[in-house]
Amino acid sequence: MAFRFIDFPSARDDLRADVLAGLAAKPKSIPPKYFYDEAGCRLFESICQQPEYVLTRTETELMRDKMPEIAAAIGAVDCIVEPGAGDCAKVRLLIDALQPRGLVVMDIAGEALATAAKSLAESYPALEVTALGMDFIQNLAAATPYVPGGRRLLYYPGSSIGNFSPGEATTLLAQFKQLVGPQGLLLIGFDLKKNPVLLHQAYNDAAGVTQAFNLNLLTRLNRELDADFDLAQFSHYAFYNPTAGRIEMHLASLTAQTVYVAGTAFSFSSGETLHTENSYKYRGDEFSELAVAAGWRLDQHWEQGGFAVQLYQIQQD
Ligand code: AVJ
Repeated sequence: MAFRFIDFPSARDDLRADVLAGLAAKPKSIPPKYFYDEAGCRLFESICQQPEYVLTRTETELMRDKMPEIAAAIGAVDCIVEPGAGDCAKVRLLIDALQPRGLVVMDIAGEALATAAKSLAESYPALEVTALGMDFIQNLAAATPYVPGGRRLLYYPGSSIGNFSPGEATTLLAQFKQLVGPQGLLLIGFDLKKNPVLLHQAYNDAAGVTQAFNLNLLTRLNRELDADFDLAQFSHYAFYNPTAGRIEMHLASLTAQTVYVAGTAFSFSSGETLHTENSYKYRGDEFSELAVAAGWRLDQHWEQGGFAVQLYQIQQD
């Protein structure tokens, strides 16, 4: 087994600075990457099993059904790189089909990533697995020394790209291009625009798991930033914004209240919200416009059940 784990320690200081800045801003917001503490990772995995949240299952079915075509279109690769790999479940299908020499996975939840990547390395003894505990949104270039050479495939599944505004997404896609180099490829999965009622239900599951996931952010701040959020005084509020083409998740204050976070007071008026996540939905052509602006050339498009996967190569000119 070939496995290494490199932990970048910077993420902890950022939480404090980002949360204090986000709570001081108008409207209040906190970046969604901070959902993923240990409990948050578990809650996200549970969201993926809820009947209303079809996104992950649909993508997995698409990947299974189309894999012969996908693998043929990709061809031989030396290495797969997956930012935000989480439990490392999705990349297995691609490893089976492409049999690369190397795999580099990254996640802000470093400990959970290391555990998942190690067990992946155990199931593929010939694969060289590198797990990077890092905030790749902050500093993707820090991963460069750990990515093996040759033909590299950047895999970004699960509609994770939906967490970024179109402008931020374009910037990140350009950084992906830098990381994989001129022979690089991008395989990316994103949720398509569809009936807003279905989207609404996906982020308002009947079992309340998405609500628990959203509120867990406050539990995390209480624990890690010595905050005093009363969870009973905040409500999960998620809706589709058709103008912006995105699901918005908020935590709505049920009363006028003052909360202390790391010694600083923040007041909420009744009904004021803390914006915790955007999940952008695209049409295929809308998304490819962003990727093309980032320097990628669309090679193939697959879609099934309201989800799309696109394969890109780098524009040569
Ligand atoms: C992991 C960002 C793709 O936006 O659908 C699920 C996270 N938030 N339910 C998404 C999430 C609420 C998810 N992504």
